Amino acid sequence: MQRVVAITGGFGTLGRAVGNAFTADGWKAALLDRAPAPDAPTPEQQDAQFRLGGVDLTDLGSARTAMSSVAGRLGPLNALINVAGGFRWETLADSDLETWDLMYQMNVRTAATASRAALDQFGDGPEGGRIVNIGAGAALRAGAGMGAYAASKAGVLRLTEALADELKDRGITVNAILPGIIDTPQNRKDMPDADFSRWVQPADIAAVILFLASRAAMAVTGASIPVTGRL
Ligand SMILES: NC(=O)c1ccc[n+]([C@@H]2O[C@H](COP(=O)([O-])OP(=O)(O)OC[C@H]3O[C@@H](n4cnc5c(N)ncnc54)[C@H](OP(=O)(O)O)[C@@H]3O)[C@@H](O)[C@H]2O)c1
Repeated sequence: MQRVVAITGGFGTLGRAVGNAFTADGWKAALLDRAPAPDAPTPEQQDAQFRLGGVDLTDLGSARTAMSSVAGRLGPLNALINVAGGFRWETLADSDLETWDLMYQMNVRTAATASRAALDQFGDGPEGGRIVNIGAGAALRAGAGMGAYAASKAGVLRLTEALADELKDRGITVNAILPGIIDTPQNRKDMPDADFSRWVQPADIAAVILFLASRAAMAVTGASIPVTGRL
């Protein structure tokens, strides 16, 4: 039986790589995002990927409607991958503090809201369910300009630990990935002089997420796993 995964931030760089990894592994995938779908799906994607744009995952009502249409279309969820998020670099001296609220909304609240909505749609199969959150290496130690972002990603880690504890008797594991700098078009634009070959590839992060969603990872929960390439 094909398993079902919902991927938030599914139209972004990492979200697309995660969607492709899951469909290549035989899953039915739903990609949810605030943006409209950026391009028409390929014929292979059309069969295996359900794309839902215009979903603001800071809003519980919108998240519930979205998760319910995913389950209606693809079946009960086996996994939720919370990729939606964002980044701002800003020192505190230059901040009007709104960035702190924005980072909380984009990174912590989207993960909490999507998880809350998805909990009603998980199936009760013997291998249980999986939630994988995307944190960041900066959640462990922030550098200059990273305070708001790092604090929000540290919040994602604490959410991961609390939810892992809350869901262990339901057989749902909850883990987090801590990427370093990902090799994305945006990062190449922002840091043109960097050695891109040292950055982690989206497909390599997707492979670790796929492992955490697999039956083999049933006994791993509450973990935060750095996936940093050669940085
Ligand atoms: N890029 C890196 O180097 C890096 C490093 C460590 C961790 N991460 C984390 O990895 C994840 C993916 O990064 P990425 O580079 O692939 O980012 P991306 O391309 O910007 O994709 C993130 C997606 O999440 C969506 N999103 C944001 N807020 C949302 C909301 N309220 N409701 C629904 N969707 C929302 C964004 O939509 P909009 O475009 O409308 O905002 C975007 O499509 C993020 O959580 C990021 O913080 C990235």
